[in-house]
Amino acid sequence: MEILPSSIDAVFQSYGRCCKDDAFFESFYRIFLGKSQTIAERFDNTDMTAQRQLIRSGLMWLVLYARGMPSSKLEALGKSHGQDGYNIPVSWYAFWEDALIEAIRRHDEAFTPALEQQWREVIEPGIRLMQSLYKTTTTQVSPLTLTE
Ligand code: HEM
Repeated sequence: MEILPSSIDAVFQSYGRCCKDDAFFESFYRIFLGKSQTIAERFDNTDMTAQRQLIRSGLMWLVLYARGMPSSKLEALGKSHGQDGYNIPVSWYAFWEDALIEAIRRHDEAFTPALEQQWREVIEPGIRLMQSLYKTTTTQVSPLTLTE
């Protein structure tokens, strides 16, 4: 389904209201890590101050991708989270998305159910892209290699 430019605008404004201060990202990780012990353990050795900075850009890329930004940044992110990277099961992205919505609900004073729907629509293509990169595609074996 086509994402309306008005939805992307609304999400952009909301993002601006949320990420004014670090508290939004603190809430997000508190909620996300609170969802499961298994998820929390993945961040045992993570510098969360640095992670809160990194997620600012990550979230921005998700929104920009809906606006037509080239996919290269999200592809790299999908790969870093894939089988040969952090090995994040595809099903865990739903927890990530729900944690994000909960954090937005707390920090965006203009939050409405309609805005939640717009957020979900806008970030969906980027999340799908990341999920689609979970499995490493095997490099094609050229006929030359086969005869060697
Ligand atoms: C669309 C959803 C997500 C976005 C935009 C996102 C974004 C990011 C970014 C920007 C980084 C830092 C750059 C990098 O290391 O590649 C990162 C690292 C990481 N992410 Fe995600 N992430 C997402 C979903 C998840 C999920 C579902 C998990 C599940 C546990 C997860 C776990 C991690 C871990 C373990 C790291 C590395 C932390 C470290 O350096 O110790 N991410 N993520």
